[in-house]
Order: sequence, then C-alpha cells, then structure tokens
Amino acid sequence: MNFDQKLKEKLKQNMEFWDEEINDINRNEIIDRAYKVDKDLIGILIDDKEIRETFFDKIKEYWVFNVNKFVDYIENIKVLSNSYTKFKNSVGLNVNGKSLNERGEVSLVWPFKDCVLEGGMTKEDQKRNEIFFNEILAKDEIDRLFDSKVLTNFKKYTAKGEEQVKDFNRDGKGTIKDNLIIKGNNLLALHSLKKEFAGKVKLIYIDPPYNTGGSAETFTYNNSFNHSTWLTFMKNRLEVAKDFLRDDGFISIAIDHEELLYLGVLADEVFGRENRVGIVSILHNPEGRQNAKYFTATHEYLIVYRKSISSEFNPVYLQENSKDSKEINDVYDKRDEKGIYKEENFIRLGGGDACLRKNKLAGWYPLYVSEDLRDISGNKKQGYKEIYPITDSGQERTWKIIKKSFEDKFKDGDIYATKKNGKIRICEKYRIDKGSPITTCWINKKYNAKKSGTNLLQSLFDEKLFSYPKSLYAVLDTLKIMTSNNDVVMDFFAGSGTTGHATLELNKEDGEKRQFILIEQLDTHADVIKKRIKKVLENDKSKESFTYCELLKYNEEAIDKIQDAKDTKTLLKIWDEMCEKYFLNYDVEIKKFNDNKKDFEKMTLKQQKEVLVEMLNKNQLYVNLSEVEDSQFKISKEDKELNKKFYRGK
Ligand SMILES: C[S@@+](CC[C@H](N)C(=O)[O-])C[C@H]1O[C@@H](n2cnc3c(N)ncnc32)[C@H](O)[C@@H]1O
Repeated sequence: MNFDQKLKEKLKQNMEFWDEEINDINRNEIIDRAYKVDKDLIGILIDDKEIRETFFDKIKEYWVFNVNKFVDYIENIKVLSNSYTKFKNSVGLNVNGKSLNERGEVSLVWPFKDCVLEGGMTKEDQKRNEIFFNEILAKDEIDRLFDSKVLTNFKKYTAKGEEQVKDFNRDGKGTIKDNLIIKGNNLLALHSLKKEFAGKVKLIYIDPPYNTGGSAETFTYNNSFNHSTWLTFMKNRLEVAKDFLRDDGFISIAIDHEELLYLGVLADEVFGRENRVGIVSILHNPEGRQNAKYFTATHEYLIVYRKSISSEFNPVYLQENSKDSKEINDVYDKRDEKGIYKEENFIRLGGGDACLRKNKLAGWYPLYVSEDLRDISGNKKQGYKEIYPITDSGQERTWKIIKKSFEDKFKDGDIYATKKNGKIRICEKYRIDKGSPITTCWINKKYNAKKSGTNLLQSLFDEKLFSYPKSLYAVLDTLKIMTSNNDVVMDFFAGSGTTGHATLELNKEDGEKRQFILIEQLDTHADVIKKRIKKVLENDKSKESFTYCELLKYNEEAIDKIQDAKDTKTLLKIWDEMCEKYFLNYDVEIKKFNDNKKDFEKMTLKQQKEVLVEMLNKNQLYVNLSEVEDSQFKISKEDKELNKKFYRGK
C-alpha cells in the first residue's frame, strides 16, 4: 500500500472524512477540520508513525501539527471526481445509483453469447437453442455458497493412461504440486481452492466470455444491464482471483474491444490502476471479416496487471513484433566467450526528444578512444580520439549511461569501439539473456488463432472439438514473460485447455516444472481439456501428469435436467423431483405452485425453465464439504478419503 492509499484508509476510519458517493476522501471536510485543528482528525493522523512524521514537526518531545503542509498535501492528492462516478454509472458499473462494491451481488453464470459456448460444440446445431440461466444473487441470499465443496470423480492421467488417485503430491511447504483440472462453476471452485492456493499462484491467465452480443434476442436485458451483469460476473471472479496471486504475481486477461473499456475500469478498481502494466494488442485474425460494416477487428487485447511492485518480467526474447519469425541467431548474430549477442549503438537512440543533448545533459559527455580502438575512457588521454554521442545524421543525443557509471560498465567488457565508414562508433553488446524489450504489439504470425489455435487443436484429434481456442503461442509467450521454475499457473476459464498445453510445452522447452490449475464448467469443454492434455502427454512421452476431479453437483444437477428438458411435461416431472430431492429456496411455496399449475403451463418453455431454476437454492448447487458425511449424498468411502487428503482439514 502506498502512502496515499494508507492515508486514505486511515481517514476512512471516520466516515465524516469519507465521501461514499465517490468512494474517496471528502477533501473539503478534511481541509476544513484541519484548519480547526480538529481533535478527531489529529487523532487519526498522529497514530501512524509514517503519517505523523510527514505532517507533524517534532519540537523537543512534542509533535506539532503542520497545518499548511497537511492541507497542501490533501489539496494535491488524487481524489476520484464525480465525473468518474458518472462514467461508472454510464458503463453499468453502478446500477440504480449503487456501485458494484456496495451492491455486493454475485452472478453465478455468464452464459450469454460466449462465442465458445455457442459455437464450440461438435454438434453445434443441437446445442444452439440451449438456454443458460444467469441469475444475480443478492448478498443476503448467500450463506453457504462459498464454502468448500466436495470433490468427486478423481482420476489421474499420465502418458501411459488413466490411474486411480490415491493421494496428492505436495511440496516442502505442503502445497499440492499436481497439475489439476477441475470441472465446475469457477466461482465456487475458486472458493474451494482458496485455502490451498491463496498467495501461491504466479500467473493467472484467463480468457473469459467476451460478451460480444450476437444472439441478443435470447435475452431480454437492455444493453446497460447486460454490461452490468457481465461486470458483476467478472468482478466476483477477479476479486477472489486476486487472493490467489503471489506478491510478485501477474494476471493477464484476454478480451476484445466490446468489453475492453468496461473490463479496464473494473480491473483498475480490483487490482489498482498503478498495477496495470500494459494492454497488449494481439493480431489474432489478420484477415478480419469480409462483411464488416465498419472496421473489421483483426486484433484483440491482453490486459495485464501485476500484484505489486515486486512483480517482474523475465528477460526473454519473443520476436513478438516481427512479422516473420527470424531465428534468434539471425538477430543475435555475434558471439564471444560469454555467448551470443547483437551489436547496439551506445548512443541512446530510443526515448525520442527526452534523450536529446539539450534535454538530458548528464548523458552528454565525450568518450576517449585509443588509436587501436581497444581502450575507451571517460577521461581525456594523450593520443585518444574524442567522441560525442552524435548520430550519423548529426543529431546530438546522449550516451546510454551517465559518465560516473561509464568506467565500471566498460570494465565488464560489453562496451567496445569499432569503425563504420571510417568513423569511430561506440557499441554495446546486447545479450540475449537480458531479453528484448517486450512491446505491446504482438503481430508475429505465431499468434494467429486459426493457425496456432483451431488448426493446431484439430491436428491433435483429426476433428473439430472446439471453436476459437487461443493461439498456443499467445499463451506460451505470456507464460515465458511471467513465470519460471515451479510456478503455479491458473486458468479458470479453461475452454479447450490451451493454458495447460502451453504450460507443458514451455516446461518441455526450458526444463522447468511449472504447474497448472484449470477450471472449466461445461462437461463438453472439460472433456476436450482432458483429451487434449492426455494427447500432449502421450505425444511428448512426457513424465508429467494431471489429476482431474469435479465439484460434486447437487442442485446443479437439477439445473442440468431443467436445461435439457424438451417440454412442459418433463419440467413438471422435474418439479416433483425438485420437491422431493433438491433444495428449494426458503420462500418457495410448494402448495401454491401445485395449485396454480395451469398458470405455469401457460408460460413459454423458456419462462417455465427460468422459474424452476430460480426456485432452486443456489447455496446448494454443489455439495458442501461440511456435508460430506451426509448419507443422502451417497459419497463413496474413497471419495471421502480423497477429500480429506485434498483439503486436509482446511
Ligand atoms: C472463451 S473460452 C476460453 C477458451 C480458452 N482460452 C481456449 O484457448 O480454449 C471461455 C470458457 O469459459 C467457460 N466458462 C464460462 N463461464 C464459466 C463459469 N462460470 N465457470 C467455469 N467456466 C466457465 C466456458 O465454458 C468456456 O469454455
């Protein structure tokens, strides 16, 4: 937490110093009270050592409030303005004047026009009319929703095939080290995994439903509600995702132009704007669409946040912004005893006008080069030639480092003089292990989602199992920059499992042992992931493995049945079963339903389905771990044992 954040947190202790509407400090009130040397305000400020030392002067043993310094600071501190609130209202972050924070709602599913949900099936036509239920729960409806859930159907897969799961591998600190694929609603799966993996994940890569509109007629929501529903869905997940990240972790979210702005505002709020490290444009579909009315989108985005200032990129060489994939050796075409390098001018050519002589005087100084070019010095020497950082076109710029640091750097042996067209040039050896700067424009053809996603996946199976997977290399390069060693990688919108595949691929490439955790809700997609990762293990004759399991369904099973029902008669049968076997909301009046069946029958099938789903208690979608011994769930002895081993009493 930086100083401003800390100061604001302290001031928030007294709600008179806080403006709820903008969710920030009430600047005028604070300044007013400061001038009055208000006891409550002083009390808050003097309590904290750092704040005290900033705004109080110590005279003998007394601390004296420096009003002017404090007021000056508060006047200049960044405070959210009302226009920000207005924007949040207009983008749907606020509904009915309340922000998402205040509403504290939970959206369980985001079913609507996920291109993959709609188009990702083998038998697409059969699935087209599938109805998904999106329901927003208010805070007071939630009690057991986020409790850990019972896991079932455990299986382990290696290159050799399927094995029974007997236990879980753990590292020295006791954390599960197995690659995991978990089927179930990601929000609930995340809450189940939290105790085990909180603070342990290095990279979360997600590719959520893009909310791209399309089959809008299946939904009655207007657009802003539509965005706000999507935002609620995302907010619930991003907030819990944050808890999983290590202090030096990252989260990378794939998104397209439809929701980029909305997601950006939300993610800034969750992760902190200062932690947004970049928005990368990825050329995933260079051809675009033939029939676009206006622009045809050829790229999408990867929006990246760090967990904290201690998150750092690895030095890597991606060639992300080169159209043709030149081999590393073509670029790093020189070699010495330390390895390969490329020659770079020691004049700072980047940085635009900021690195001109007139703007950065400390970088403008002469270097002295011996006649045989072997020695370079920052100090004048007899017989040495004086060289200034002037480009071939005569522009006066600066050296890459200031004079004071030059001698030390020269001793490292990576700065040398050479002759170009009769002129002496000072150069630096740019080594591969320093990596190349990672740009925000990824246009290399390896990111083409059709070639390195759809076709690559199809080539593994000889049939199309999934539409629109990400390019393997878009994910792999993200992993390269942000993970190493035994890092944990998580993807809770796993789709076809590209993130798992990329993790294995990169481990193969660099010999590291990254671990993946994938979560996917849809049966069909979870099957694709299993098949895909199994195939990768087989093809590579890999020594790696993964453990698969599912959240044990309870009311979710009833929802599945409702979704699959083709007519009212079937739905009424399910209703009877619901009364008998499943968990209904407390306020559902069974008798009234039965008395009014005629009215129910008059509704459309879609409405009937919605009513039934709404009556099911969402706290009981899956079986809570605390109920593992309850005989009505018929949980096998083996599963009970494995749940014990997985959760270890957590
Ligand atoms: C855009 S796709 C991800 C594609 C993936 N990156 C790939 O390369 O294959 C989003 C996935 O998230 C899944 N999903 C959507 N809502 C979910 C939820 N609430 N819980 C778990 N998975 C969900 C969808 O079923 C879909 O497979």
